[in-house]
Amino acid sequence: MNRLLEIIKNREARIGVIGLGYVGLPLAVEFARVGFDVCGIDVDKHKTDTLNDGRSYILDVPTEKVKPLVEKGKLRATGDFSIISKLDVLCICVPTPLGKSRDPDVSYIVKAVDAIALYLQKNQLVILESTTYHGSTEELVLTKLEETGLRVGEDFYLAFSPERVDPGNKVYTTHNVPKVVGGVTPHCTQLAAGLYEQCIDEVKRVSSPRVAEMVKLLENTFRSVNIGLVNEIALMSDKLGVDVWEVIEAAATKPFGFMPFYPGPGLGGHCIPVDPFYLSWKARSIGFEARFIELAGMINGFMPYHVVTKITDALNRQRKCLKGSKIIILGVSYKRDIDDVRESPALDIIEKLIERGAAVSYSDPYIPELAEGHLALTSRTLDRDILASQDCAVIITAHSNVDYSLLVKHASLIVDTRNALKGFSGDHIVKL
Ligand SMILES: NC(=O)c1ccc[n+]([C@@H]2O[C@H](COP(=O)([O-])OP(=O)(O)OC[C@H]3O[C@@H](n4cnc5c(N)ncnc54)[C@H](O)[C@@H]3O)[C@@H](O)[C@H]2O)c1
Repeated sequence: MNRLLEIIKNREARIGVIGLGYVGLPLAVEFARVGFDVCGIDVDKHKTDTLNDGRSYILDVPTEKVKPLVEKGKLRATGDFSIISKLDVLCICVPTPLGKSRDPDVSYIVKAVDAIALYLQKNQLVILESTTYHGSTEELVLTKLEETGLRVGEDFYLAFSPERVDPGNKVYTTHNVPKVVGGVTPHCTQLAAGLYEQCIDEVKRVSSPRVAEMVKLLENTFRSVNIGLVNEIALMSDKLGVDVWEVIEAAATKPFGFMPFYPGPGLGGHCIPVDPFYLSWKARSIGFEARFIELAGMINGFMPYHVVTKITDALNRQRKCLKGSKIIILGVSYKRDIDDVRESPALDIIEKLIERGAAVSYSDPYIPELAEGHLALTSRTLDRDILASQDCAVIITAHSNVDYSLLVKHASLIVDTRNALKGFSGDHIVKL
């Protein structure tokens, strides 16, 4: 154990990051940046080849940051899991989606852990970073690794440390977001915390992996429930004829006891619409009904339908029907200034509009092609002719590099689900 702590503190430990996506790549880069030898392991050959070529495929990680690390030999990638036997630390950053019946799909964790078990060596530190239900580290990882005959806290070390990356956030990135760490034994916590302290400004130790798992679930459930609450207030305000955005802006002047959340067309991304259901699933398994989570899920899941109703009503007021109308969706990524469409409400809204007979196109500077499910669309460049040719423009994601004055001037009808047109007025603008 002491030798492992020593090579972690000397930054001589060889680190493996399993899963080089939105979470794994920035983490691998942070470790390599402070001097560790890092090997990313991924089943996606395109990612490993691109990285070995010195290029990034994640918007938040510039190629200029990756290239020198690859050239110095500090960062590389492989699809060959046998490398695990030569590493000192393994961080697991694989996906944790929901299955078809909205139950946790932990198959990616299971596969990654099977591979680690095959090559596990004495004195290795394994850290699970993927967001998952309470108890996963011990139930899915510890059990499997101890089947090798090696013992946790003696032969190998195991911890959970949730990732908190916020794609598109220019202020808070991997190194300055505090990291929560909970090891299976105190030694495990000490090693994992010692590792992150090398490249992350603040590390918060907790007493167990179960606490660390619950921390992440609380954080994301907090967001989902508060967004659900404000979405319900938005639906209510719409009926009452009150501008919900003005209400929130004024409420946010209270310096204590209030934190603004904003309504929108529905939840998106790999975390907020997914993670709370990992918690409610686990709670259900012990006979506990997580009511806030389910209710927030229902309200947030209703928002795309509300947006379609708003569009239909707005067209109706202009004596047009949805069927046959030309509608352009502005912004399809799940949030502003990113290139990720996973779980984006735009997909749901586009499908619902097409089902109802609308002629739908989209414009998103971050998403040149949209090939999801039955959808195969190409982004259009916003100009006055395109805007003038549409019956309705719908703002789903408000990227900061879009010229909204052009939109206000040339579109005949705009449905704004993000308050992107704050400061503009006109009968042709309809707010959420
Ligand atoms: N994206 C976020 O904003 C975010 C934020 C916090 C936490 N998380 C959590 O982090 C985890 C990873 O999310 P992500 O967004 O980076 O996912 P991602 O899909 O971007 O990346 C996951 C990577 O894992 C690879 N992979 C899948 N199975 C593998 C296996 N068996 N072995 C090796 N590689 C494998 C995939 O090819 C992919 O490159 C999830 O649990 C997610 O909930 C994500």
